[in-house]
Formats: sequence, structure tokens, C-alpha cells
Amino acid sequence: MSSLKEIDHGTPAVASTKTLSAKINGVSITVTEGTSIMRAASLNGIEIPKLCASDNLESFGSCRLCIVDHKDRTGFGYPSSCTTPITEGMDVTTHNEKLTHLRKNLMELYISDHPLDCNTCSADGDCELQDQASELNLLGANNILKPTRFNSIKNDHLGQPIDSSNPYFNFDPEKCIVCSRCVRACNEVQGTYALSLHDRSYDTQIKPGIAENFLESECVSCGACVQSCPTGSLIEKTVVEKGIPDKAVLTTCGYCGVGCSFKAELKNDEVVRMTPSKDGKANHGHSCVKGRFAWGYTNHVDRITKPMIREKITDSWQEVSWDRAVSFAADKLTKIQKEYGKQSIGGITSARTTNEEAFIVQKLIRTAFGNNNVDTCARVCHSPTGYGLKQTFGTSAGTQNFDSVLESDVIFVIGANPVVAHPVFASQIKKRIRQGAKLIVADPRRTEMVESPHIKADYHLPLLPGSNVPLINAFSHIAVTENLIDQNYIDQRCDIETFNDWKEFISLDIHAPENIEIATGLNATQIREAARLYASGKNSAIYYGLGVTEHSQGSTMVMGMANLAMATGNVGSVGCGVNPLRGQNNVQGSCDMGSFPHELAGYQPIENDTLRGAFEKKWQVTIQNKPGMRSLNMFDAAIAGKFKGIYIQGEDFVQSEPNIQHVEEAFKSMECVIVQDLFLTETASYAHVFFPATSFLEKDGTFTNAERRINRVRPIMEPISGKHEWEITQDLALAMGYQMNYSSSSEIMDEISQLAPTFKGVSFDKLDKLGSVQWPCNDEAPEGTPIMHIGEFVKGKGTFILTEYVPTTERANRKYPLLLTTGRNLTQYNVGTQTRRTANIIWGEDDVLEIHPADASTRGINNETLVLLRSRKGETTLKAVITENIPLGVVYTTFHNPETGANVVTTENSDWATNCPEYKVTAVEVEPAEHRSEWQINRAKELAQFRQIKST
Ligand code: SF4
Ligand code: SF4
Ligand code: SF4
Ligand code: FES
Repeated sequence: MSSLKEIDHGTPAVASTKTLSAKINGVSITVTEGTSIMRAASLNGIEIPKLCASDNLESFGSCRLCIVDHKDRTGFGYPSSCTTPITEGMDVTTHNEKLTHLRKNLMELYISDHPLDCNTCSADGDCELQDQASELNLLGANNILKPTRFNSIKNDHLGQPIDSSNPYFNFDPEKCIVCSRCVRACNEVQGTYALSLHDRSYDTQIKPGIAENFLESECVSCGACVQSCPTGSLIEKTVVEKGIPDKAVLTTCGYCGVGCSFKAELKNDEVVRMTPSKDGKANHGHSCVKGRFAWGYTNHVDRITKPMIREKITDSWQEVSWDRAVSFAADKLTKIQKEYGKQSIGGITSARTTNEEAFIVQKLIRTAFGNNNVDTCARVCHSPTGYGLKQTFGTSAGTQNFDSVLESDVIFVIGANPVVAHPVFASQIKKRIRQGAKLIVADPRRTEMVESPHIKADYHLPLLPGSNVPLINAFSHIAVTENLIDQNYIDQRCDIETFNDWKEFISLDIHAPENIEIATGLNATQIREAARLYASGKNSAIYYGLGVTEHSQGSTMVMGMANLAMATGNVGSVGCGVNPLRGQNNVQGSCDMGSFPHELAGYQPIENDTLRGAFEKKWQVTIQNKPGMRSLNMFDAAIAGKFKGIYIQGEDFVQSEPNIQHVEEAFKSMECVIVQDLFLTETASYAHVFFPATSFLEKDGTFTNAERRINRVRPIMEPISGKHEWEITQDLALAMGYQMNYSSSSEIMDEISQLAPTFKGVSFDKLDKLGSVQWPCNDEAPEGTPIMHIGEFVKGKGTFILTEYVPTTERANRKYPLLLTTGRNLTQYNVGTQTRRTANIIWGEDDVLEIHPADASTRGINNETLVLLRSRKGETTLKAVITENIPLGVVYTTFHNPETGANVVTTENSDWATNCPEYKVTAVEVEPAEHRSEWQINRAKELAQFRQIKST
């Protein structure tokens, strides 16, 4: 249980090494220089009344309720404690008769402008105005604000209608005290600048920009304003419906790799709201629309809560008991292995489940299945990160914590749009940019990162899809040939032999910006200037996403970035580094847990006898000493008739893999497909066994975010299906003859910490004590490692690797003249399984195709009309959106909606090292369409049949 109310010290902490001494109410205190009187008092247990101050916002000084007195004061005025710093020797009084009298006058003015309806207000009992009125004896019976001597003044803002346009919160202008906390939260915390103050004096009002209401405004529904509001003016609709929560449980968001910590606030054991936790080290009390509001899918009517089985995918599903479902699955898998051999089955761990749940699935495969045919969805997103960073630095993970960005001087964002995919971290980047850091964005699209209120990239490099490697090589070429490298760092930290080879290679003229203009579509001068900016920055940091990894040269590009960062001395200290922005909540964790066919937990090679031996001893089995099949190999083997059974934990391959028709064929070729998920997904349509899974609100375990931070996920409710996911996997192992006998997920973590050296010091107890830790967490770093490679790389000396540019074989031609690249949007998540079952659909659930006006015009395509998108692999239809945010010759879409099935057009081209699919480059043509494509029509019919459930 977490405490419902968090202490608000009124103003932010200040960073200073100096301290000073003073007195507050006669008590001697010592605080950091620059601390406000309000914060100093609060830190010492003295609460000064306040309305406009909050410790996540810069002090503003508008309400004047926080006035104090001190010995050196001159004149008539009393200083506001939120805007006045403590000085050495100051002697402050926070409460006396005079101050109370003045505060009372101020509060009477506030109350005169406020409806006196506390007993019918949804914020009753959770309202700072009410609390302050109470302190000043201005509350009457039933805690209702008392009328004051000013209440007869005519007040236009009373009687205004409530704006309920946003699906998640209301704005009631009547209850607004114009403290401006919401405006400042939107500006300072979120960085969207959607709100403003209109008019003056008594007529001052909060408005969502120039729009009529919140829904039509620039607001992105992060909820920071709602959280900041001290009254019931901005309030969650769930609170209006269900009432003020009475308890809270600390847990972690189940959506993206930022890993925001939340207080799940409950009333009568039902979730009322999710409030981001101020102690969350990844999010510091902030969130995005998905984590804060889009949790309604957890009890959506579509959820499957009973196990189901069937012999053939054309049969209707039949609900059965857990015992029956598990024995049915085990019998089928055992029979397949008898008939087709040990390698004929395998499994997939999920990036959405906990570490413990993922660990136990790969253990099942390596023990009960007796092979290494295990893979995870990271195969199709960040496997090149794992490979590239391991080769160069020695560890398959990002180098920094998120807070490190607040000390970056140059931020290079490449192949990522954190504003939509990692929104809370994007707010942090934007904050740093507003403080003066420089920004380089390399992305074909003009994303929200390139320009938004108070943010403008110093360089936007709209490179052609598939040309990352020549771009990064050109950056390194400039660093080397213009002598912008850090030779001292290289001499001390890096392998000199590989550096010398690389230096010779990268100095070649072929890497000069002038020689890559055609490949990248960029202007050489711009590349040169941007590269100089990165190389000469004091602290330069690289942040990248799937626009880097999902290419045939994804691993080459990761190593290219690592080379550049090492050459310029930008690894191993605060403010710099090479940082993958990992997509799903636990994609880092699923990789850490040994979900790849060639590695055991903690990235320990399966072929190493000693390392594998430790697992064999613990698990009492012989583990095969050769890597198993990757997911794409499993599908190929299925079509070839050699792979017949698969256990899929929470992934929707039929929507998320490239070349969907190939994947569908693979699933149709199998005899036992087991899907463990919340809903009957597209993949579940091809399954023979359905194991109902748990939502993040039911899970007990840990997620590991993009900065290697291991966070606790605590259950808010019992599993609706009656079983935790690790129990399902354990039951399957038992039914297949392998003994597992965990009694809690904490025991599974204990086993992980015994087997994976980077997790050696991790336990639930430690996480409960520290809140979270970043791996490596071991004897050398018992409280974790925020920044990696300090002083020395994990592998010793950093290795430079030659990064030759080999263009993709996927080329545009006369038949397919455009290049398609894919991504995601803010309100939908991944394949949309969860977010399409929330009110987020108000912002649209359909995938659309962004196309440049000139490309649209030559094809006779109008805005918002249906178009056919076809590639060498398949075709689908979707609506076109004409925009200049996309360059000529490039089109863009998302893959959130199964009806579009955008991956029907993507190809099986993949990264040379890891097989990560090349989602980001597909040659396509687009033309106006009259109706859905044949594939879409047939698929809809087929899936409707495959989803029938027998009535019981
Ligand atoms: S919800 Fe977020 S973006 Fe919208 S107005 Fe509030 S703070 Fe701004
Ligand atoms: S809506 Fe709330 S936070 Fe915003 S100005 Fe009004 S009272 Fe303050
Ligand atoms: S940024 Fe990511 S982790 Fe944070 S609330 Fe949003 S979806 Fe959840
Ligand atoms: S809290 Fe200090 S002026 Fe409002």
C-alpha cells in the first residue's frame, strides 16, 4: 500500500553544493542555498498555506496565501514564501495573528468567486481550497465553504458550462481560482503549451488555447493539468463517477519503455484513477495519456477470462477448465515432438509481461521442451541494439538513465519520435532544449520533435529511408577529418588497433557528406554543420528508436553510432551516451531474461559450457548447447512442415510481423498454437489453445524499462482468470513432465538473481526498499548503475567496428516508386490491442497513409479518401492524409489497426546480424481505391469464422 497523498514542498529542489543556516519559527534549520522559504519550512515539517505553488512547478507568486514575516523585513509588504529564497541567518515566522488575518482576507476573496457547493462537488475531501479554508475557519457545516462579505459581488464566471469534451476529464470554469497551476504544468512539465490565461482581474479565465474546448485544442491529454489543479475545476471523469479514492498501490505503467511509476488509486478496491508517482525515478510524477487514462481495457467486455481449446482452427472455441486446457496443450505438444522431433516446437516470450513471467517461459522451453527455440518480440524491434552495443561496448543496453539528458548540451535524436512513442521522456528532452541544449533530429518526417511550441531543432535531417549508415559514417568522417575526436579518451578507453583500422576506413572520401548526398537525399553543408555540432558538444547524447534498428543494416547503424560516440568521448559520463528508446514496457526485460535462442538470462551465451552449466545444475536438466530457431526461422520451418507447435505469450504476430500472409500461412501449417493473451487477437484466431492472461493491474513482478530500471509491478486485484501467468507456464511444464514448484513470483526473481550476474543484487525486498534499481545490480553496485561504462567499458576497451554501407535490396522502381516507412502515434499503442479498447479511440483508431501533396496530386489522390497501398508482398487500403511533413517520394503509416493490416505490404528483408525485419523501407505504389482490398475482405470473413466461441 502506498500513501495516497504525496508531500508537496511547494517549490522544486535546487541543485547547489552550498548550504546555509537560518531559523523558521525559532527552529534552526540548514538548507541548500537557493531553497525557498516555503520549501525549507516544508522540509522541516512546517506547512505554509499555499494555493498557486507546487513542487513540480517554478514558483509563481500569484495567490499570496503563503506570505510570511521575517526579522529583516522592511516596509508594509509581506514576502511570499514560495518566491523568496532563504538567506543566511534569516529568522522567519510563518504563522502569527497578522498573517492569519491577511490570509483570511485573501481566502474570502477566493471564496467570493467560488460556488458554495462543496457537498455536491466531486472534489469534496480532495480539494486544497477547502483545506486552506478549513485552516482559516472559513468552512461551515458539512465542510461547505462559508459565504463571505464579498459574495454579493456580481461574478460573470459563475454559471459557466462545464467542458466535458475530453473523454477523461472535465473542466469546470466555475470552480477555477485562476491559480495558473494547470497552465504552468502544461508548459513546464508537459511542454505542450495548450493552455492560456484570458482577460484580466475577475474576468480572468483559463482557456485551452484558441479552441472552444479541450478536445479541439492542442491538448494531448497527459493529465498534468488535472493533477495540478488544487480545486475540482479540472477533474477526472472516473472520480466524478466513482468518488474520491481511499487507498493507493504503487505500480508501473503497462505500456511503453519509459516505465512510469504510478499510484493506482482505489475506492472499494476498484481503480478510480492512476496518478503518476513523484518518487518514480523515470517519470518524476508525470505521465502520458496512455498510462494515466487508457487502462479501461483491463475490464473490457471483449476480455477472455476462461481457458479455451479446439482441435482445428475452423472449429468453434470451447471453454474448458484450466486442468483440461493445460493437459490438452501438453498432450498435443508431446505428441508433436514424438512425431516430428524435439525441434518441432518452440515458444515466444512477451515484452508486455513481467520479467518473472518471461523468464519462466524461456525456462519451460529449455527444460520441458528440451530445445532453445525461444524468441521474443525484441527480435523485430531492438535486436540490433543488443548485437551492436554488445560488440562495441560489451553490454546489450542503453548507457544512461533518463535524467542524464538534463545535462546534455547536444541531443541527437535519430529514427525516433519520442513525443508520441516515449512521451514522458520527450517532455524531459524538451525541457532541456528550452534550457538551451542544441537539438539535431534525423528523421524522414517532420515530426513533433523537429518543431513544437518553444522547441525547434537546430538541424532537421530528413534523410531517405534506408540511409542511416551513410549519414552516421559521414558524422564520424567529419569528426575524424576535422580533428574533432577525443584522442585522449580513445587512448585511455578504447582498443587502439580497432580504432586505427576504423580511422583509416572512416577517413575515406566515400564517407564525405558531399559523396552521400544522393544516398541520403540530404544537403552536404547541413550534414557537415550538424556533425560538427555533435562532435564539438561538451556532452553529446544520442537517442534512437526503431527508425535505426528496423533496417537491413540496423546492427551496422547501432555500431556506427557507438563508434561516433566513442571517438568523440561521449560514453561513460552524465549527459551523453548511446540510448535506445525501447518500445514496449518490458522489452528490455524480456531480452535480459534469456528470451533469445542464443543466450541465457543475463546475455550469457548458450554455447559457453561453464555458463550454461550453472543453469543446468540449477534446473537439473541438460540444456542444448546450440542456439535454437529465431521466430522468423520458426515460421519458415512451419511452412516447410518441420515446425508444428508454438506457445506464444502475449504477442500478436499476425499483426506485428512483416509480410502477414507469410505468417498466416505459417500458423495455418501448425498443429498446436497456444496463445496466452487478454483478447482473441489476430494471432489467437489461428490458435488451438487459448490461455487467458493477466493485465498489468493483476500482475505481481517487475518490468525493466529502457534505462535498465527494474520497477515493481504490484497487483491491484486478483487475476480475473484465476491464475497468474507464471502459474500457467508452471502448470504446462508440470504437465509435460518437468518439475517446477514456485509459490510466488518473488521466488522466480530470486532464481534470476542467482543465475544472471547483472541481477545478482536484485530482490523484491530491495525494490520495495529502494523503489527501483538499474542493472547491473551486484556486489560492486548494490544499489544499481544509472550510467554505464564509467571509467571503463563493460568489455574492457571499447571496440571500433567498420560500418560499411550496403544499401538495402528493397529499391523503388517504376512499378513501386515510393518508399513506405512506418511508426506509431500517441494515443494508440503497438498493435492497438489495448488502446483500441479504451476511450483513446476518440482520437482515431484507423491507420492513415501520410503522403506529400505532390505525390498525391500526380496520383489523383484527395485528402481523407481511400487509397490502395501495394508492394511486392501484398496490398491493403487505408485513408490518405496529405501533408508536407513527409518528403516527396516517401509515404508513412502506423500499424495499430488489424483491419488495415499494414504489415501485409512489408517485406521479410531483415538485418544481416539479427534478422530484425526491415519495416522502415518498403517500395510501394499508392492509388485511389473504391473499396477494401480483396485480402482485407477475405481476411475479415476468415477471422470471423476462426473466432467463434461455442455458447455454453
Ligand atoms: S492534459 Fe496535458 S496537454 Fe492537455 S492541457 Fe493538460 S497539461 Fe496540457
Ligand atoms: S483550472 Fe485548476 S489549476 Fe487551472 S487555474 Fe483553475 S484552479 Fe488553477
Ligand atoms: S510514457 Fe510510457 S510508461 Fe509513461 S505513462 Fe506513457 S505509456 Fe506509460
Ligand atoms: S503559494 Fe506562494 S504565492 Fe501562491
